[in-house]
Amino acid sequence: MPIVIGVVSQKGGVGKSTLSRMIARDFTQAGWDVKIADMDFQQGTSFHWARSRNEAGVAPEIRVEAFATVAKALRDSERFDLYVFDGAPAASSATREIAGAADIVLLPTGPANDDLRPQVLLAHELCKVGVPLAKIAFVLWRVGDSNIEIADAREYIEKAGFRVLPGAVPERTGYRRASDMGRAATETRFPELNKRADTIMQGIVEIIKNLEPQGAHA
Ligand SMILES: Nc1ncnc2c1ncn2[C@@H]1O[C@H](COP(=O)(O)OP(=O)(O)O)[C@@H](O)[C@H]1O
Ligand SMILES: [Mg+2]
Repeated sequence: MPIVIGVVSQKGGVGKSTLSRMIARDFTQAGWDVKIADMDFQQGTSFHWARSRNEAGVAPEIRVEAFATVAKALRDSERFDLYVFDGAPAASSATREIAGAADIVLLPTGPANDDLRPQVLLAHELCKVGVPLAKIAFVLWRVGDSNIEIADAREYIEKAGFRVLPGAVPERTGYRRASDMGRAATETRFPELNKRADTIMQGIVEIIKNLEPQGAHA
């Protein structure tokens, strides 16, 4: 049985694919058997990214497959250590299915109320359909340079009853350029950006460590 991470949002462009790819890359690098299920079948963002990565000869190779349904992806997931659902932007039944199947549900969000509001609404909706609160974690992504704004965003999410991972990934061209070359957010040319992304990764590693023992995981 794999550990399943679902990366979901109601809005598009919040960083789901970028976050999914970072998780897949770092655990693959650590020797885990990982796959991304790209659920944005029309866009196939992560699928195309993996192709760019191969073409650029960046190691390790990351497995990505686009799936039209969550059920199909879950049937494929069995033989992996870690399975990452890169969700399509919607508070849809697919999003609820992903969250239902996941051990960890990550909701990336920008720091503005316009970003926070729909993500918190989605999180409440997921709780309402039975997703345990303990599975849900927010990730601050594409933040600005104001620490006050970041602190306010953290408070907004925590006041709504949800946890937020330590750290925040800023909006930087360097992350986009890395993505364009098939690289992950922890593989940019800029040590400072890699470090900011790595803080988020460490939060995810901590959550995985605290999951119920699953058997053969490293
Ligand atoms: N931290 C960041 N700084 C700058 N651009 C980013 C950052 N994270 C993501 N992007 C860019 O923003 C766009 C949307 O990100 P993406 O991960 O595809 O979001 P989603 O999957 O939620 O739609 C992409 O062009 C991506 O390269
Ligand atoms: Mg995407």
